[in-house]
Amino acid sequence: MAIDDVSALPLSQLMSLKGRRAVVTGGGGGIGLAAVRRLAEAGASVLIGDLNGDAVKREADKIAKELGATVIGQSLDVTSEQSIIAFADAAVSQLGGLDIWVNNAGIFPHSSITDMTVESWERVQNVNLRGTFLGAREAVARMRKGSTKKGVIINVASTAGHRGRHHLAHYSASKHGVIGLTRSLALELGQDGIRILAIAPGITSTPGLEQRGLSEDTKRRAAAMPLGRVGVPDDVARVILFCALDMSSLMTGTTLFVDSGATA
Ligand SMILES: NC(=O)c1ccc[n+]([C@@H]2O[C@H](COP(=O)([O-])OP(=O)(O)OC[C@H]3O[C@@H](n4cnc5c(N)ncnc54)[C@H](O)[C@@H]3O)[C@@H](O)[C@H]2O)c1
Repeated sequence: MAIDDVSALPLSQLMSLKGRRAVVTGGGGGIGLAAVRRLAEAGASVLIGDLNGDAVKREADKIAKELGATVIGQSLDVTSEQSIIAFADAAVSQLGGLDIWVNNAGIFPHSSITDMTVESWERVQNVNLRGTFLGAREAVARMRKGSTKKGVIINVASTAGHRGRHHLAHYSASKHGVIGLTRSLALELGQDGIRILAIAPGITSTPGLEQRGLSEDTKRRAAAMPLGRVGVPDDVARVILFCALDMSSLMTGTTLFVDSGATA
């Protein structure tokens, strides 16, 4: 089955997610929360999952009220297969189906290789790579069952999935994995009309980055951005929105860099 040619649709329709059902993992703050806001603004109903269940419910209620949209928060741990399955089931039962799945939850603790414990290595792989694999698997199963014609999976990778990063070997390895997963699944899912894309943000000011503090390496890289500044969450959220829209309907398996030109 070839993907629809949408050339005849007006821009107003191409820019709309009215009637689409979306989920965002790790959407309690930072890039994920900004993506929820843009998806809801474009007309999608959204289920947000986050480790911090109370915060995510509060944020969901706030956006729902502000935009008059269906936005629901639920606790989710992407390292738990059971938790992801329950979350995916909740998306179908509460939103009525599934069209868009954003694998955003991720962690980025700093460590030199000699200080890197096996626990830290495994935690990073479990959240960033295994969580993305599980999210994609559960999304595909439900998109196929619901026979959506607009299935899109968006994986938040990183510029560290394309190049190395000082004291982030575990993180960089996990994000290289996310890009490999994205490419491979694009080959497998094309015939179902399900697209899969990766986003590679550069340095983006989010609660996660601020809590960790900027390393000397990050400060040096931030000062040399070709576009003159580091990202804010909405810079990345707008590109996530573009991936979810029919505007990008012939794109799959590729990675979109949102990095102020850093990898140029
Ligand atoms: N901020 C950056 O500079 C930057 C750069 C490149 C890529 N990224 C990627 O963007 C994504 C979002 O990063 P951010 O900076 O917004 O992070 P953040 O720490 O500000 O927010 C991440 C959210 O994910 C949630 N989360 C963490 N572990 C989870 C789990 N096991 N299950 C469910 N939710 C969980 C957290 O509670 C938090 O709300 C991550 O995948 C990150 O690797 C961020």
